[in-house]
Amino acid sequence: MQLASYDEYFQRILQNSAEAQTAVNLLTTNETYFFREEAHFALLEELITSKVLPASLVVWSAACASGEEPYSIALLLASLLGSDAGWKVDASDVNTDVLDLARQGIYPLSRAARIPAPLLKRYCLKGIGKDDGYFRIEAQLRQRVNFFYWNLLQARESKAAYDVIYLRNVLIYFDDKAKVKVINHLRRQLKPGGFLMVGHAESLQGRVAGMEALRPGCYRFI
Ligand SMILES: C[S@@+](CC[C@H](N)C(=O)[O-])C[C@H]1O[C@@H](n2cnc3c(N)ncnc32)[C@H](O)[C@@H]1O
Repeated sequence: MQLASYDEYFQRILQNSAEAQTAVNLLTTNETYFFREEAHFALLEELITSKVLPASLVVWSAACASGEEPYSIALLLASLLGSDAGWKVDASDVNTDVLDLARQGIYPLSRAARIPAPLLKRYCLKGIGKDDGYFRIEAQLRQRVNFFYWNLLQARESKAAYDVIYLRNVLIYFDDKAKVKVINHLRRQLKPGGFLMVGHAESLQGRVAGMEALRPGCYRFI
C-alpha cells in the first residue's frame, strides 16, 4: 500500500497491530553471539559451584534476540548441573522474527567459534547434506529454554520468580525514564538476593535503590 507521508504510516501503525509488529521487527537491533561478555558466564559458574545458587535455579534472558544468550546459559547449566536437574531458562524478546529463529536453534557453523569445544561436541549437532555449514542445538536442550514474546516496558504479573536475569545490551536503547521503569519491573521479578546482569557498557549506578554492585555489569538485589 502506497502511503503519502510518515504521519500516514504512523497512523497505520497505531491502528494495525500486525503492521506495528512488522515495524518493531525491522527497527530493533538484534546483534548477539554465543558466550558474549564471558565474565557473566564465569560468574554464573562461580555462583553455582559455590552453591550460592541452587541446582533448581531459574534464569531469564530478558532480551534474548535470536537465542544465542539463553542457549549459552542452558549449555553452561547442562554441563554444570546435568540436563535433568531442576534448572529452567526463560527467554523473551519484543521481536517476533528473532524469536522464531531462536526456537529453531539453528545457526551457521561460523557462529560456533566461542562455544567451548566440549559443549559444542556434547550438545550441538552438525548439519549434513542441505544443512551443511549449520549446527543445531540438540532437542533436549532446546526444550529446556522457554521462548516467549515480552515487551520490557510492560510489567509482568508474576513476581519474584527468577534467581538470575540477563538484561544485556538492551538498556542502551531506552531513555533514562524508561531504563528506571524497566529495571524496577525486573527487580520485582527477582527472588530476594537474585542477580541482575547488564551489558558491561551499561550501568545502573544511582538509578535504582536496594541494589548492590557485585562485579562490573552484575548487581544483586538486597
Ligand atoms: C542488541 S540485542 C541484545 C541481545 C542479547 N541480550 C545480548 O546481549 O547479546 C537487543 C535485543 O533487545 C530487544 N529489545 C529491544 N527493545 C525491547 C523491549 N522493549 N522489550 C523486549 N526486548 C527488546 C531487541 O529486539 C534485541 O533483540
